[in-house]
Amino acid sequence: MNAAADRPLQRGSNLFDVERVRAEFPILGQEVNGHPLVYLDNGATSQKPRRVIDAIRGYYESDNANVHRGLHALSERATNACEGARDTVRAFLNAADRREIVFVRGATEGLNLVAQSWARPRLGPGDEIVITTMEHHSNIVPWQLVCRQTGARLRVAPIHDSGALDMEAFAKLVNERTRIVAAAHVSNALGTINPVKEIVEAAHAAGAIAVLDGAQAAPHDTIDVRALDCDFYVLSSHKCYGPTGTGVLYGQATRLEEAEPYQGGGDMIRTVSFEESTWNDLPYKFEAGTPNIAGMIGLGAAVEFMTELGMDAIAAHERDVLEYATGALDALDGVRIVGTAREKAGILSFVVEGVHPHDVGTIADQHGVAIRAGHHCAMPLMRRYGVPALSRASLGLYNTRADIDALVGSLHKVKEIFDR
Ligand code: ALA
Repeated sequence: MNAAADRPLQRGSNLFDVERVRAEFPILGQEVNGHPLVYLDNGATSQKPRRVIDAIRGYYESDNANVHRGLHALSERATNACEGARDTVRAFLNAADRREIVFVRGATEGLNLVAQSWARPRLGPGDEIVITTMEHHSNIVPWQLVCRQTGARLRVAPIHDSGALDMEAFAKLVNERTRIVAAAHVSNALGTINPVKEIVEAAHAAGAIAVLDGAQAAPHDTIDVRALDCDFYVLSSHKCYGPTGTGVLYGQATRLEEAEPYQGGGDMIRTVSFEESTWNDLPYKFEAGTPNIAGMIGLGAAVEFMTELGMDAIAAHERDVLEYATGALDALDGVRIVGTAREKAGILSFVVEGVHPHDVGTIADQHGVAIRAGHHCAMPLMRRYGVPALSRASLGLYNTRADIDALVGSLHKVKEIFDR
């Protein structure tokens, strides 16, 4: 075992020992293509600390049973574990009530749930939904479906070249016809941190609800849904160092109460007859069928891990690496960063002039550096910048300046090959 593994994770209130933290992630110890793995694809999915893997294994080894159903010991243990995870997530988001935490498959399912359960029964012709140009497909397509189903109209707020939201244009788009404003907290492709508090206030001032896609925000900084006063907030476990297939929909209790379930099945009902059925209490009304029990337990362990490190410390660490990376890429001839908003999280998309991002990604991989290349599930945003695709390095709490040096080294190789 790595000597770092014996040291405490924390080094002070706003600092952690990154080598010690890295020792918690078994996957980071490997070589890829003969080079130490440098994992810079955290926007796509993050790696999992040992305690998350152990929590999932422990559940299957000792406690595996269905939840909310059996009277036997295993079922009680499984129920306590996943309801404990709900309490952990409630505290992480500072939600007022555990009934406001709905476990879903991921941020995508959370957004679809809001679209089908809250929006579809309410919207009609003449109503509008406002989103932004930088949205991920999962915060575009569910609203397009609802518009098709109800006759409502989708409006799109533009962005500046820097990748910052054009707040003046946004303010003009939000009016008495607006029923929903849905925006990314952090853009997955640009890293822009949106002024979500202002966005929520503008939505409420117009009588609309505010839905925030926190998939790329929750792993990077403190989220306080009560301070934001958003109506709904979604996140994905697998981007927060937890397992895939699990996510969270936070909804204010009044919003969730007024929404209709869009999936029926076991656990979400109070009574069923062939004539009619009635719904269970929150949050179970939206959790039809056997949930992803291991996923919930794994997410609970991941949230405890992030909380123990401290979200402020994680944010400060990633800010340092982002600043270093921005300087390093800026200094490279023929490399152009896309997304230069003043408020940014640890996401760095870029173009290497004259080289397709897929070639950049492939050559980086040959040097052990994992980055993403493609449209980043944001095709309209690629069109906005006139590019088919981008290369993207996205940071996690275990990345270091040395990882950025490795990325830069691989970009030198890209240039060498294409300059020949
Ligand atoms: N939405 C994920 C990303 O940005 C998959 O890579």
